[in-house]
Amino acid sequence: MIGRLNHVAIAVPDLSSGINTYASILGAKVSEPQELPEHGVTVVFVELPNTKIELLEVLGEGSPIAPFMERNPSGGIHHICYEVDDIIASRDKLKAQGARVLGDGEPKTGAHGKPVLFLHPKDFCGTLVELEQV
Ligand code: CO
Repeated sequence: MIGRLNHVAIAVPDLSSGINTYASILGAKVSEPQELPEHGVTVVFVELPNTKIELLEVLGEGSPIAPFMERNPSGGIHHICYEVDDIIASRDKLKAQGARVLGDGEPKTGAHGKPVLFLHPKDFCGTLVELEQV
């Protein structure tokens, strides 16, 4: 069902510092910051030859990454994103097998303007999984 690894997301306490780490120190190409109020985060994408790294910073009150940042004040890997062809069919298949879909279970528009869903880490080897329809 799952396809390519679309990105690995790393939550950071300070986005400009994270951008500096990836752009200046590691020499990667980094996108302009994008505010996603619906997701409570500001993101940039680090473009790598075979995948992307998403750097996330808290945006506003009640950000879904705020509890993670409290547990990991210096940041850390927050989720991984796999590509799927049909997000509704994938969701329904996973739910039928007992997997928990976060939120109201309906896809939201992600940072690439495509539908995304998040799956409960306890059902996926302790890792928060994002599905993105491509
Ligand atoms: Co993501």
